[in-house]
Amino acid sequence: TGSPVVLGIESSCDETGAGIVRDGKLLGHVVASSMEEHARFGGVVPEIAARAHVHSMGPVVEEALAQAGLKLGDIDAVAVTSGPGLAGALQVGVAAAKGYAFALDVPLYGVHHLAGHVAADTLEHGPLPNPCMVLIVSGGHTSLLLVRDLVRDPILHLGDTLDDAAGECFDKVARVFGLPYPGGPAIDRVARDGDPKAVHFPRPLTGPRDDRHAFSFSGLKTAAARWAEQHRAAGRELPVADGAASLQEAVADVLTRKAVSACLEHGVDTLVVVGGVAANSRVRSLAQLRCEKAGITLRVPPLRLCTDNGAMIAAVGDLLMRSGAEPATLDLAVDPSAP
Ligand code: KG4
Ligand code: ZN
Repeated sequence: TGSPVVLGIESSCDETGAGIVRDGKLLGHVVASSMEEHARFGGVVPEIAARAHVHSMGPVVEEALAQAGLKLGDIDAVAVTSGPGLAGALQVGVAAAKGYAFALDVPLYGVHHLAGHVAADTLEHGPLPNPCMVLIVSGGHTSLLLVRDLVRDPILHLGDTLDDAAGECFDKVARVFGLPYPGGPAIDRVARDGDPKAVHFPRPLTGPRDDRHAFSFSGLKTAAARWAEQHRAAGRELPVADGAASLQEAVADVLTRKAVSACLEHGVDTLVVVGGVAANSRVRSLAQLRCEKAGITLRVPPLRLCTDNGAMIAAVGDLLMRSGAEPATLDLAVDPSAP
């Protein structure tokens, strides 16, 4: 009796996540990461990620249920990331979800990974206002979306990155700076001791004639690499903290400036920043500063819900179920390059 219990499963990249959500409330949230197994390769190795999901899936689901104080038989629906992501990694989650749905005889929902990132915020701050502006910033995406109803209405896609994603820029520059993988958190950490004004990195696509909603980060990556190269060629030690702080400032400046002006242009008074890069301390503080100035309400999920997890997928499943959406069949296919 009562509201349905939704199990969410995420396995699109290197995180095996399971989450339990009931009536918009987070009851269980467990993530196992294969990050360390990829570190020596400097990036996620798809085959290693898929194998790690196979090992972690069962225990992660069981632990999430235990956190919620529930048993397998209490699950009323299963939601799973069907794309986009790594094909083999997605397959593991989808196969597991089908197994649970079939064995428990409950509905199955395929969820778009990015809808999950957006829904993550609802677990902390409640339903999203209609409309809201969403900035998705992760290792694979940098997009501005105008969202009315996450599961009922089409999402208006305002702009994307033309090349690298913001997280990818952090990850690649970190490697050039000799920082450990994953680069985003490493840059954030060392930037604390650096001067954000030390190096003036470019602010791509912020000129008056540029596409207002598009992003570009590959030039920034090149500029940071050139700066590092110049130091090395001159035999000087690389001031990594200054470089990291300056790069972080440039990325945060571009992201928040464009997101806030998109809100103003479209008359939207709430900005939601989600995805792994929403964990960045400067992105968070600058977004807060600029939103306050512009009279915009800022919503950012807590750190643990910013990076990939199953709770955010359960959150979408919960919304789908409550909106009466048609469940998927056991034919549900992965869609690695879902638009
Ligand atoms: O959303 P996410 O966990 O996975 C994807 O769907 O891509 O995002 C991962 C990305 C990585 O590029 C990682 O370096 C970045 O988010 N990231 C950060 C921080 N924490 C994670 N970037 C900057 N600062 C952080 N604190
Ligand atoms: Zn993600």
